[in-house]
Amino acid sequence: MGVLSHAVTIYIVSVLLGAVGLAVLGWRMHPLNRGDMVPLTVLCVMGILSESVRENDVGRKTTLSFTSIVSLSSVVLVGPFGAAVVGAVPHLMGVNKDRAQVRVFNSGMNSAHSAIAGFVYLRIGGLQVVGPDSGPLELLLRVGLPLMVADVALCLSNALILSGIVRLTQGVPIRRFVLGMLGTSGLAYIGYGVIGFLFVILWVPAGVGPFSAVLILAPLFVARWAFVQYGDEQRAHERTLSALVAAVETKDLYTRGHSERVALLCELMAGSLALSHQETEALRFAGMLHDIGKLAVPTRVLRRAGGLSDADLALIATHPARGVEMVRDIEFLEGSIEAILHHHERMDGRGYPAGLRGEDIPLFARVIAVADAFDSLTTSRSHRDAHTVEEAVAELHRRAGAHFDPSIVAALERGLTRQVWEPTRLEPGLMATAGRAFDHDDPAASDLMADLASSEPAGSESDDLDPLRAKETAP
Ligand SMILES: [Fe+2]
Repeated sequence: MGVLSHAVTIYIVSVLLGAVGLAVLGWRMHPLNRGDMVPLTVLCVMGILSESVRENDVGRKTTLSFTSIVSLSSVVLVGPFGAAVVGAVPHLMGVNKDRAQVRVFNSGMNSAHSAIAGFVYLRIGGLQVVGPDSGPLELLLRVGLPLMVADVALCLSNALILSGIVRLTQGVPIRRFVLGMLGTSGLAYIGYGVIGFLFVILWVPAGVGPFSAVLILAPLFVARWAFVQYGDEQRAHERTLSALVAAVETKDLYTRGHSERVALLCELMAGSLALSHQETEALRFAGMLHDIGKLAVPTRVLRRAGGLSDADLALIATHPARGVEMVRDIEFLEGSIEAILHHHERMDGRGYPAGLRGEDIPLFARVIAVADAFDSLTTSRSHRDAHTVEEAVAELHRRAGAHFDPSIVAALERGLTRQVWEPTRLEPGLMATAGRAFDHDDPAASDLMADLASSEPAGSESDDLDPLRAKETAP
């Protein structure tokens, strides 16, 4: 897992080379002179400061940075080449401690879209040199308006370059990503443009000079504080998930690492299925917590080596419903409840707890069923080595239609073309302890459970296993 594919490496190198080419063009269009050194230095320092306080955890996939404001100000004050330099420097210096390949990509991307914004600004008549004598109308028409158009170019080129890497690593369609980013960040870019324009006016016509950096950054740091509060909420969610997963992993040794891997596979398939960010998060949460109900299953049953009695299997079959009972009141997990409850349903209706068929099974539950089985097959057991990815996919195909949704199996296959997946070999100590326990995620175990369910008297216990229904009918 986590190995960069050739396509991603080629894309990162292409972005970097493109940025270098744009910088050379920028130099030809507007070479720097001695007078540009002070603003260039100040802007680089601002860029470094912005990146060093970038809030990566505002949201799981959201970062907060003032870099766009710095880039737009650079476009006017030091031209396309200077803007390209300002865009690259903070990442090349590694101020935010990203991994090397992320730093290289971000350097190229920020440098490229800053240079592109610089070209657009100059091509539509933006003033190359803003002087202290520039009047309000000239500032508005020759700086403000071109800068807003350059702002649009910056936003679009940023979204497009970023969409390529997200497409390659997560499978999100380019159009969907770009539209999503414009929807969530478009308004923010208007703000970036206005603040960049104010910065330029403060610097030259207002005569504030380099001190304008302080006047601009100070209120932005206050705004950042507000965003960090939102990030704290997101982190609290992650901590809740981790605590719940840790609890079930100490009880059921087979689950160790399994929840995390199922969540990763769910995320991979979410990309293939073009789910929104919100849907992907709900699916990921469900993937993490799908087996949380095992906390309510006696440990002696979960760890028993050898054959389980029908009563033991019936106890294990209660875990989806028990899981829902545990997390149903956690507000941010609302979108994950159905998937937790139905992750052992089968397309032929022989699954549990409700015996749903086909597309009556919630989509997220069908996704978890495939992820669950795939991880079980590609993880070693005491009686067999881990299956290869190809063997596991073949087994899922063999069971597609009766057990798994064929379209979800296909989504997994598409995901596996974008992400290298290595089979998991349990450490010897864990294998010795857990290796002979019943693995309810093994697809073969599903047949056993299905046979058990079909031999139960209809409408007895299973009617009580649906806590969603219980919730709906509760007074
Ligand atoms: Fe399960």
